[in-house]
Amino acid sequence: MNSLEGKRIIVAGGGGAQGRVGAALFAQHGAQVIIADASAEAAASAAAEVAAAGGAAIGLAADVGSRESWDELVATAKREFGGLDGLVNYAAVLSRAGAVETEDEIWERTLHINLTGAWYGVRAVIPAMLEAGKGSIVNIGSVDGLVGRGGGTAYQATKGGVRLLTKSVATEYAARGIRANSVHPGPMQARMAMVVGPKADPTATAALEARLTAQVPMGRLGQPIDIAYAVRYLLSDEASFVTGVDLAIDGGLTAQ
Ligand SMILES: NC(=O)c1ccc[n+]([C@@H]2O[C@H](COP(=O)([O-])OP(=O)(O)OC[C@H]3O[C@@H](n4cnc5c(N)ncnc54)[C@H](O)[C@@H]3O)[C@@H](O)[C@H]2O)c1
Repeated sequence: MNSLEGKRIIVAGGGGAQGRVGAALFAQHGAQVIIADASAEAAASAAAEVAAAGGAAIGLAADVGSRESWDELVATAKREFGGLDGLVNYAAVLSRAGAVETEDEIWERTLHINLTGAWYGVRAVIPAMLEAGKGSIVNIGSVDGLVGRGGGTAYQATKGGVRLLTKSVATEYAARGIRANSVHPGPMQARMAMVVGPKADPTATAALEARLTAQVPMGRLGQPIDIAYAVRYLLSDEASFVTGVDLAIDGGLTAQ
């Protein structure tokens, strides 16, 4: 249970459904974590959960779409933990509109948080990881970034971008000790909280879950811990020869 002993990790979007489960698992495996989220309350409660379980966590309000936020996160890791070895970026918003229906504002906001935010994160942590001599970056994409699934045009474009952003960083920094991989969840039990643009009809949730479940060869939706286990591995030194991978955790959805 100590595969992340000594690691100092920023978990962006760590107040969300998946991020808080991931942060708890990483801390359980010995990491010190900074849980950053647009919701200060969510970041604080996720950090409190880790602390209550005996782990080391700091909760901070942060906007992944802000360069200043990233600078503050990296400075906090250096000040409080003495450096930085890992970044997991779970932060994202969902937009469901199709190619013609997507409004400019929704396109810009989705790209800014999901893709520009991922780049800001990478740009901010690399110098600190070079100082530490090594580092592992894990960006959370989606099966929507691996295959076309119709609708959600802006979201799909950002998740596809995150996949190649990660591969680009992986190849650029492979010889300098920094690994970068992306993890792509399939349909999850917990629906994403922040939806930009038209919201889904809550009464349609059960029907949506049934439709999504039917798409998954394993016949079930994903759980946050399914994703967290993969991320934990990629953060650890067990994955020291793994970089540039895009790992689908999707019950076989994209194997079809
Ligand atoms: N839930 C799903 O069905 C699903 C499926 C595939 C992929 N994903 C991906 O998994 C990741 C985690 O999603 P989740 O299921 O935990 O959803 P979630 O909505 O519970 O968590 C996302 C978190 O990101 C935070 N966030 C949003 N904008 C931010 C910003 N500008 N700065 C900082 N934090 C911000 C939110 O406050 C939230 O806590 C996302 O990247 C998502 O795209 C989710």
